[in-house]
Amino acid sequence: MSMPKIYIAGHHGMVGSAIVRRLLASGHSADALLTRTHAELDLTNQAAVNQFFESEKPDQVYLAAAKVGGIHANNTYPAEFIYENLMIQANVIEAAFQYGVKKLLFLGSSCIYPKLAEQPMREEALLTGTLEPTNEPYAVAKIAGIKLCESYTRQYGDAHGVDYRSVMPTNLYGPGDNYHPENSHVIPALIRRFHEAKANRATHVAVWGTGRPKREFLYVDDMAAASVHVMNLDKARYDAHTLPMLSHINVGRGEDVSIAELARAIAQTVGYVGDIVFDSTKPDGAPRKLMDSSRLHRLGWQAQMGLKQGLALAYKDFLFTEHMRSV
Ligand SMILES: NC(=O)c1ccc[n+]([C@@H]2O[C@H](COP(=O)([O-])OP(=O)(O)OC[C@H]3O[C@@H](n4cnc5c(N)ncnc54)[C@H](OP(=O)(O)O)[C@@H]3O)[C@@H](O)[C@H]2O)c1
Repeated sequence: MSMPKIYIAGHHGMVGSAIVRRLLASGHSADALLTRTHAELDLTNQAAVNQFFESEKPDQVYLAAAKVGGIHANNTYPAEFIYENLMIQANVIEAAFQYGVKKLLFLGSSCIYPKLAEQPMREEALLTGTLEPTNEPYAVAKIAGIKLCESYTRQYGDAHGVDYRSVMPTNLYGPGDNYHPENSHVIPALIRRFHEAKANRATHVAVWGTGRPKREFLYVDDMAAASVHVMNLDKARYDAHTLPMLSHINVGRGEDVSIAELARAIAQTVGYVGDIVFDSTKPDGAPRKLMDSSRLHRLGWQAQMGLKQGLALAYKDFLFTEHMRSV
């Protein structure tokens, strides 16, 4: 049998590029991977998306393209976050169906769960409470993405063999991360901060909050491996562990770490030897955010990368990225 032609939407992004790495490493031919940059194909443009699917006719789609950003960007551009994400998903999923794609995997996010969801957060917590207001428009779009996948499978599964699934990653880090000084997630932000403190021989680094909140982090190549695993799961096995209207799958390490422990681990990775000061005048956010990934564990997948080793690889990627920026 010939290799499936796979379209990875968002292949320049952190997750999309890791999915490409994973598919290549598992023996998939580069010729059978389809990619388009944002400049080549704007996924909010329905006509362009239809034309792409009509001419390329992929067999499978990984939908890892999205407008993503931190709290500040989500608060400042809520219209763009909801509109662009709804359009990307609706265009890609409908075109996939129209042009005969049987298998599609949609990437969501843990922000789909209610702000006060019981910890660890189970898939069943979806639509049981009020969302975190800062990224509500983004989360609503992601929830719509899950429901698009479920609805297409429910309506067209039996008659057309459509099997569209979705995965919800916890916080990710690793190669391809965004190390922007003001607009990055906690791991890349602390890597930069400790790296610069070491270079400047700073005596202390201040970290926001008490250091007590606990968060979960997954190395992005583990996320890519989980995505390929879920895409390729036998349908009967997938169906046995999901419900038609509760089909999304959490992807996490199943362990969390306090911000203080994380900061110490990053300082050690970077080789920063000064003090770490926790600024308790700054807000902590939720005390704990952990996904319950037992559904995925029952489906035969576990994370491989330990935090220490993952941080060492992430720091290497930071150094490489900084080097490339400077040449
Ligand atoms: N990173 C995390 O910690 C994390 C955690 C949970 C879930 N996720 C989910 O994983 C998915 C991928 O995230 P990521 O971290 O890989 O984000 P990312 O690095 O920003 O990648 C997203 C990609 O989508 C592309 N894109 C955005 N709008 C587009 C459009 N209109 N047309 C075509 N391409 C477009 C971007 O291209 P440009 O950059 O050129 O615009 C970028 O290459 C998202 O759905 C996100 O919610 C990520």
